[in-house]
This record gives sequence, C-alpha cells and structure tokens, in this order.
Amino acid sequence: MQASFYFPGRVNSFFSPTKIMLGAGAAKTIGAQAKAIGCKRALLVTDQGVVSTGMAEPIKESLVSEHIDVLVFDRVELETPARVIEEGAAYARDNNCDLLIALGGGTTIDTTKGISLMATNKGSVLDFAGVDRVPVKGLPKILIPTTAGSGSEATRAFGVTDEAERMKKAVSTPYCLADVAILDPLLTLSLPPMLTAETGLDALGHAVEAYVSELATPFSDMLALEAIRLVGKSLLAAYAKGENIEARFDMLLAATLAGLAFGSGGLGAVHAFSFVLETEHGLGHARAVSVILPHIMQYNKIGALRKYSMMAMALGEQVDGLSDSQAAEMAIVAVGRLLDEAAISSRLSDYGISQEHLPGLVAGTMRQTRLFVPNPRNLTEEDVRNIFMQAL
Ligand SMILES: [Fe+2]
Repeated sequence: MQASFYFPGRVNSFFSPTKIMLGAGAAKTIGAQAKAIGCKRALLVTDQGVVSTGMAEPIKESLVSEHIDVLVFDRVELETPARVIEEGAAYARDNNCDLLIALGGGTTIDTTKGISLMATNKGSVLDFAGVDRVPVKGLPKILIPTTAGSGSEATRAFGVTDEAERMKKAVSTPYCLADVAILDPLLTLSLPPMLTAETGLDALGHAVEAYVSELATPFSDMLALEAIRLVGKSLLAAYAKGENIEARFDMLLAATLAGLAFGSGGLGAVHAFSFVLETEHGLGHARAVSVILPHIMQYNKIGALRKYSMMAMALGEQVDGLSDSQAAEMAIVAVGRLLDEAAISSRLSDYGISQEHLPGLVAGTMRQTRLFVPNPRNLTEEDVRNIFMQAL
C-alpha cells in the first residue's frame, strides 16, 4: 500500500516527543523515567475524577520508590482556562518542582504543557498564543494519557481558553514536546463506551485531516494512515468491550500516531467547524468532531480523491475494480458506519441546532479560517453555510 503522495516542491517539517514508552504496565516505569531525566520533585497534574479511580497511586509509588517527591495538582478544568495553568505554574514554582507529570485526558495534558512553560516564563500564558513565541524552555514533562483521543501527548501545541474573550487559543512551540510520553492501555480500560467512541472518532478526525492536509509529509502520511487503519480495526471492539486490552492499545496507539501526524501535518476544516459547536452549542470537542467529520469528508473528497481511496482501504473497505471517485466514497461510508454502530448522530438537529442558528454557526467558523489553509479544498463563507445546512 503506497502511503505517501508527497510533492517535494515545498519544505515542511516533522516533530515528535523525545521518548515514547508503550505497552501494558508502561506507566509503572515512570519512576525510572523521572530518575533518568534527573528530577527530584515531581508535580502530578490531574483531575479529581482520575484521582478518585485510584489510578494515580501506582504512579506515585513508582516515583517514591526512586526517591522522587510527589506533589499533586488536581484542579484541571475542562477547556483548559488560562487561569488554571497560571495557578498550577505558581504552585510548581512555589514548591520548587523540577518535573511535571500529566495523568488524564487531553485537557490535563494541555494544562500540563501550559504549566511547564509558565513555571519558567513571565506574564500570562495567553501572551504566548501563536507559533514559536515562548522565549524560555519549560520544566521537563512526562505525559500519560488516560483517554485515546486528543493525541496531545505527541504534539508541540496545546489549546487554552481566554475566558475574557471566550476564545480558545493555541500555543505552539517545540518546548511543548514531551520528554517522555507513556502509552499504557491499562489506564484506558475503564473509559465508558460513549467516551471511547467519541474520543476515538476525534483521533480519527486528526488522522483524516493530517492525511489530506497541504502540510503533510511522508512521515505524517504513514502515521496518519496507520492511525486510520487501527481505528477501523479496533474502535468498535473497544466500544463493545472496554476491557479488551488489545483493542484499547490499538486505540491509544492510533490516537498518538494521529497526534504525531497532525502535530506536524496540521488539521483542517473539521476542527474549524467543530469549534463553534463546542463554544456556542455545548458539544464536547470529541462529540463535535464526530458529528461534523462525515460532512467535511464529503465536501473535501474531490480535493484528495487518491488519499480518500487509501483511507477506504485502511478502513477495511473493498475497493478493487472501483473508480477513484467510487473508492473515495467508501471512506465516507466506512466512517458513517462507525458513527451508526456507536449510536452517534451526525445530524445537527439531533443536538438542538436548527436553521435559526446558521448565521452564528457560519460567523463562528469564519473566525477559524487559519484552519482552512491546509484543508484540501478551499472554502468560502457560502460553502461553510451550505455544509452546515446539509448537516442540519
Ligand atoms: Fe480534535
């Protein structure tokens, strides 16, 4: 299977974490990882939900066994408000922490990246929104996802909410890359079915967007296509039986591979459209991406027919004898089937959204046009309106 269609007439880049530990029980190596980095006092960043599962205990024990002090910051909030990052950074500084450990979903990992930077830089984290605007390297960090979705453990960026402006902003710098990312499927076994499906579809959205992005490279193409294959193979198995370690590992790996892919290859219209569904209509990020994904795939298809055919094959569709256009269509059919099986509606009307919301949806999406740049098909305001109308 040919994974790459790279045209070397432009210069793109690829970034990745320093080290990735993976496999059942990998989280218990954290003491050794922290010791190898040379740390003495770790701040474990998490939320109270994770703490209540007891998941943090073996992590703490492993650190203590290597004579590393552990403090806990469990005040992570959804959507990563700048306020929480600054509070965590002050706590890390006041307590002389020299290592940050994230244990949780994408929000926790994003918060940890922000705390790492703000423990060593002055001002507000919002001052650093944009690309490569952070002057000083942050504290070392070990990132441990407990969901298989955001892929943030593998990227050099994080999202942060500006509560005053009601805006989500992105901070992107190689200083955000993990010193160590740990992929332990045992930490994802208790994720409920619906969250498993939504977060898995968010990972699929990352892989699909990175694969057809204008910023794609042969590195990101291979990773994205493998992520798509793994989601096709194991999303429904993990949804059907959460304790299936192999399926959980596939999904965790898929999310990280997709993170590696979009962390360099970029995202596109799916994440531009999902934004307004999150901020104005209260859908969680993963659900918003799941809902809009098939609609954007339908629109984008003609901009990346060959790659859509590759995605169809990766998702297990039989495309022999089909034209490129017919094969490409099968990728959308396959994604639609995943949504159907997981009982996730892709109709906006099922989320209380109607014709009267169209102007707000369009205006909100047009504030995210930076994500249109890598998208494989150009979009005008009229196109945005038409896609939302078709999705109603
Ligand atoms: Fe996403």
